[in-house]
Amino acid sequence: MKEFDLNQLISLCKRRGFIFQDSEIYGGINGFWDYGPLGVELKRNIRSMWWKEMVEKRGNVVGMDSSIINHPRAWEASGHVESFTDPMVDCKVCKKRYRGDEVESDKCPACGGELTEARQFNLMFRTFVGANVDSSSEAFLRPETAQAIFVNFKNVQETSRQKIPFGIAQTGKSFRNEINPRNFIFRSREFEQMEMEFFVHPDERKKWFEYWVEQRVEWYTKIGIKRENLKLREHEKEELAHYSDGTVDIEYYFPFGWQELEGIADRGDFDLSRHIEFSGKDLSYFDPFTQEKFTPNVIETSAGLDRTLLTVLADAYEEEQLENDSRTVLRLSPAVAPIQVAVFPLHKKLKENAEKLEEDLRLSGFKTFYDDKGAIGRLYRRQDEAGTPYCLTFDFDSLEDNAVTVRDRDSMEQERINISQIKEFLSKKFGA
Ligand code: GAP
Repeated sequence: MKEFDLNQLISLCKRRGFIFQDSEIYGGINGFWDYGPLGVELKRNIRSMWWKEMVEKRGNVVGMDSSIINHPRAWEASGHVESFTDPMVDCKVCKKRYRGDEVESDKCPACGGELTEARQFNLMFRTFVGANVDSSSEAFLRPETAQAIFVNFKNVQETSRQKIPFGIAQTGKSFRNEINPRNFIFRSREFEQMEMEFFVHPDERKKWFEYWVEQRVEWYTKIGIKRENLKLREHEKEELAHYSDGTVDIEYYFPFGWQELEGIADRGDFDLSRHIEFSGKDLSYFDPFTQEKFTPNVIETSAGLDRTLLTVLADAYEEEQLENDSRTVLRLSPAVAPIQVAVFPLHKKLKENAEKLEEDLRLSGFKTFYDDKGAIGRLYRRQDEAGTPYCLTFDFDSLEDNAVTVRDRDSMEQERINISQIKEFLSKKFGA
């Protein structure tokens, strides 16, 4: 399996405009990241492939988009006020702070000093709604998108006229005051989730759980992740979240080891039962065919968008040794690549011709990029780092033969293709 230094990827992300440290000019703020022009496109492509796969392709999953701040009682019902905590320890000597479950001994990994006893720290960000700053106005930024789906279960089910089994999907920002954000965007304090809650009859939990595990692994391969870098890991009883009767993580082999990418959880009837209890509202389901009334059980698929994006980048990243040279290349799938095709003029006299070709491709729906700043070799290298699958060069011969040189990112091979056939060529390559 490929090993590489995460810092090299972080610096590529900055250099090419994928990801910047948030508030960089003020020294940054730990656990927060900003997406640049290429990063935002990559993120949009991944989100949209998730939505297509989970909602648009299926007749039995519908979407929603909730507020980030919900009623504080919802977070009591969900168990987050009481249980969404991590153990926190401090070094008595150098004052470094750690998550208790991530240090192996009672001595500080940095200086060898003694650590304090672990204290439970709630990860939800607090804020105040309205002008009064007191406990009556306290609210939380959501730590997951899932709860608003449960809270809206009845609204969505009735208005969409869905019958069980069916799912509700949502993507959006979540916030966790992580004790120790780290590994770039892998664990941050503000991130985006892509979650789907699938409501089933209690007798059908196992069947649907297995179905969704399989579907989700397959999706990662559709966005270009190599199957051999993914594995499934079942949670031990002791590590199950407070709501879960069983969880399987899809893990990826990151530069810092095997780590969770997505969790698929059998949440039983925990969520709806708790919201029934705390709100006093009836969220049960009446099956018109069997005449049975029951509280639906839930199979959840919960993925992190930023973490998926990091996975896509890590999986595509390669430092390739060439005969007399080396290059860094992102072998992104054309399905997610922020730029699908770059267009260059070989000489500044050909600028207008190249610009015209780029505009024509852009208006036909391709994600394009025009560049003329630098020698052709440098332009190629820049696009290799951006993950652009194809580069087209307009040269003096193009004026005669109406053809351009098409350079393939992965093989670096070049071929002449007539401009009238370029769109067809690209569409075929992109599977459009
Ligand atoms: N609704 C269930 C839930 O939120 P989770 O395992 O806590 O489960 C689901 O989170 C996914 O969200 C994780 O697999 C990960 O991809 C992403 N995630 C969680 N915490 C994160 C963080 N601090 N930074 C980035 N992504 C995170």
